[in-house]
Amino acid sequence: MKIKPLMSDSTSFLSTIIKNRRTTKPPMMNGKKIPDEQIRELLHLADWAPTHANTEPWRFIVYADPKVFCTEHAGLYRDKTPAESFMQFNYEKLLHMGDKASHVVVCIMQRGPLPKIPAIEEIASTACAMQNILLGATELGLASYWGTGGMVHSPAMKQFLNLKDEDIVMGVLYLGYADSTSAGERTIPLNEKVKWIS
Ligand SMILES: Cc1cc2nc3c(=O)[nH]c(=O)nc-3n(C[C@H](O)[C@H](O)[C@H](O)COP(=O)(O)O)c2cc1C
Repeated sequence: MKIKPLMSDSTSFLSTIIKNRRTTKPPMMNGKKIPDEQIRELLHLADWAPTHANTEPWRFIVYADPKVFCTEHAGLYRDKTPAESFMQFNYEKLLHMGDKASHVVVCIMQRGPLPKIPAIEEIASTACAMQNILLGATELGLASYWGTGGMVHSPAMKQFLNLKDEDIVMGVLYLGYADSTSAGERTIPLNEKVKWIS
């Protein structure tokens, strides 16, 4: 089989945005506030994600003050971690994770009313909605981070957010501004990820 290199030199607006989206860890943000109106714009973009059978499973909880979420998150870690594995360092890290971020958006897959739609599709749909936010943020010159650390996947977090068993916390998006971003890297060549049959 002849392998055709998958090269891309596209400089279209969309491809530039996609390639320029980079993870910026919240401690690298600079504390500048994003206007709430821009966060609302990003949520509108999220709302146009593809969705099988129009279940629209994405749900968002916006914390306009990251400290509110981070205090709760660290508190869950402190209260639900067995004493022998509790680490003060981890507690402090969660507590201060959003100190330099502007907004925190907790992203949830809320299982729709159609059991024939598999959960994996609702998860995929919600991930698309989250990517819409990240790409929109890139367009607006914002820094972003998708985090799943700490208690994000714990039953305690679900309980705190009043979710049902079948719902899933997909991650926490920290949004803000940064003075610089690190370069992205992809370590597995694209050709190794694609089987092209012609
Ligand atoms: C589902 C998901 C969960 C992630 N969780 C974490 C996390 O908990 N901690 C972290 O440092 N980065 C997390 N990331 C960010 C990745 O580390 C980051 O996307 C990766 O390093 C690639 O960098 P890039 O986003 O700049 O391309 C997560 C990303 C995704 C998609």
